[in-house]
Amino acid sequence: MGLLNQLFGKNEQAREAENFYSAVQNRRSIYAISKESPVSDERIQEVIEFAVKHSPSSFNSQSGRVVVLLGNEHDKLWNITTDTLRKIVPADAFGPTEEKMNAFKSGYGTVLFFEDQSVIEGLQNAFPTYSDNFPIWSQHSSGMLQYVVWTSLELEGFGATLQHYNPLIDEDVKKQWNIENSWKLIAQMPFGKPVASAGEKEFKPVQDRVKVYK
Ligand SMILES: Cc1cc2nc3c(=O)[nH]c(=O)nc-3n(C[C@H](O)[C@H](O)[C@H](O)COP(=O)(O)O)c2cc1C
Repeated sequence: MGLLNQLFGKNEQAREAENFYSAVQNRRSIYAISKESPVSDERIQEVIEFAVKHSPSSFNSQSGRVVVLLGNEHDKLWNITTDTLRKIVPADAFGPTEEKMNAFKSGYGTVLFFEDQSVIEGLQNAFPTYSDNFPIWSQHSSGMLQYVVWTSLELEGFGATLQHYNPLIDEDVKKQWNIENSWKLIAQMPFGKPVASAGEKEFKPVQDRVKVYK
């Protein structure tokens, strides 16, 4: 029995590892997305809360903050972004930009990633030796959270991309959704049911990128 358990446990572990590696491989940038959702809004909230809770952060600072925009609220974000870009992109070159904005707007929702600067300042005051590093580690932590959310959305049947229209849209976003002053916008992740698969991806030889000494 003990041996069986041990074997079963091992198989279970191997299966979990395989699932994880598949998830890592299957996460891609999916630009063609629709307003359909393969899961309930509650499920979306659940997987994002799970990611926020379990993703690591420097000094366990938990400085990541997330706003999830669904339906109309998602549309508002891409209207804001389109209007902002319209002010700075020459009118005769705006076509492709508008197309891109419409593609994001065609999705079901957007995750906004923030980092709470008050947490970072608190750490800088508490540990002056690392003062310069805390903003860098905050960006790393946000990247990890973004990755977990991205991969989770993919596992739930969505396609997503990572976008950076900050700091252009920061003020309007703050006003529109009453965002705390200390929350700094880091990235936007539009998502929806994929309507086309990801493009081919080229890989540099991994042997040139990894060194192992033993
Ligand atoms: C830190 C970071 C920033 C990125 N910024 C953008 C972005 O602003 N816009 C965009 O369309 N894709 C962005 N991407 C997506 C990358 O272009 C994409 O991940 C890469 O080409 C590999 O393709 P894949 O996501 O399909 O694996 C970003 C990715 C990372 C990791």
